[in-house]
Amino acid sequence: MKAAVYERYGPAEVVNIREIGRPSIAPDEVLVEVRAATVTTADWRVRASAFPGGMWLMGRMIMGLFRPRHKVLGSEFAGRVVEAGSSVTRFAVGDEIFGFATKFGAHAEFLAVSGEGAIARKPEGLTFEQAAALPFGALTALVFLRDFAKVPPGSHVLVAGASGGVGVHAVQIAKHLGAEVSAVCSKANHELVTSLGADHVIDYRAEDFTRGGERYDLIFDTAGTTRFAQARKALKPQGVFLPLEFGIADAFSALAASISGGKKMTLNVSGDTREDIEIIADLVASGAIRPVIDRIYPFEDIREAYKRVESRHKTGSVVLKVTDGGV
Ligand SMILES: NC(=O)c1ccc[n+]([C@@H]2O[C@H](COP(=O)([O-])OP(=O)(O)OC[C@H]3O[C@@H](n4cnc5c(N)ncnc54)[C@H](OP(=O)(O)O)[C@@H]3O)[C@@H](O)[C@H]2O)c1
Repeated sequence: MKAAVYERYGPAEVVNIREIGRPSIAPDEVLVEVRAATVTTADWRVRASAFPGGMWLMGRMIMGLFRPRHKVLGSEFAGRVVEAGSSVTRFAVGDEIFGFATKFGAHAEFLAVSGEGAIARKPEGLTFEQAAALPFGALTALVFLRDFAKVPPGSHVLVAGASGGVGVHAVQIAKHLGAEVSAVCSKANHELVTSLGADHVIDYRAEDFTRGGERYDLIFDTAGTTRFAQARKALKPQGVFLPLEFGIADAFSALAASISGGKKMTLNVSGDTREDIEIIADLVASGAIRPVIDRIYPFEDIREAYKRVESRHKTGSVVLKVTDGGV
């Protein structure tokens, strides 16, 4: 099968499409013919070893100190089950599914994934490309807003980076939770974020939201452009700053804020569960959220896809069309 393989950390050019063996499945796994996958900010960070804020060593310890442990990246996908292990009861051959790869590997024509993993039936009416654009951004936004911030109805949430991979879902999920939403992105994306439900839009090139008069219950920064010292000026007295990108220095600031009381900073990483991917499928079915695609690239153009992700100006997800089916 064809796969996008990288053997060393580096720029997009370290990734090459190659023929490798098709994965075999364990009794509790399914084999999926991948129709679409995405290049996420996580794929780029791992490939380039671009871990934020002094987290380089920890990132390398997890992903492989000298050479990458997982030679095929790609964490979210949509495709069709072509083989099911003997103990899998949730899915059968022919099912169209979407979700998270168990340990990367979605940048390939075939993927072995746990039958009990964070995968679900593809929502009806979505293309494979649209379904692949959901898990990373939507699950992160769901877990951060529902579980870590516990956003109550009526609260005022500011999403910085509102047009990005996580941001487009943060706007929609904050609205779904009953919040008033202010969205920060460039002017070119204001129409998009308004269509996703944002009540107010702020062009970060024209206005610094931390210096405006508005005060927020929650500032969810997906762009990595705000520090706690700035954010706290725009928080209500018990407000919370929730950054997606953080480093070692932020951990000390969060600790200091938790001791002094009042405005807080919460640091966390999102997991992925079967229950939550099913909730995402339900939210799509009910019309509460929809995927946003920046651009669909042919699989062979994966290096170009990576470069678009690294620009940090994509809108929603960068999608790869991996197979047409029937490989
Ligand atoms: N902690 C965790 O568990 C976790 C989970 C998932 C992701 N992450 C991290 O979260 C980050 C976000 O990922 P992502 O995929 O959503 O990023 P992304 O798609 O690259 O975000 C790009 C968006 O950010 C906007 N942007 C750029 N500069 C901005 C600024 N100064 N102010 C406001 N918006 C700005 C851009 O809008 P314009 O084009 O309009 O400029 C663009 O739409 C990544 O660093 C990722 O590694 C962490």
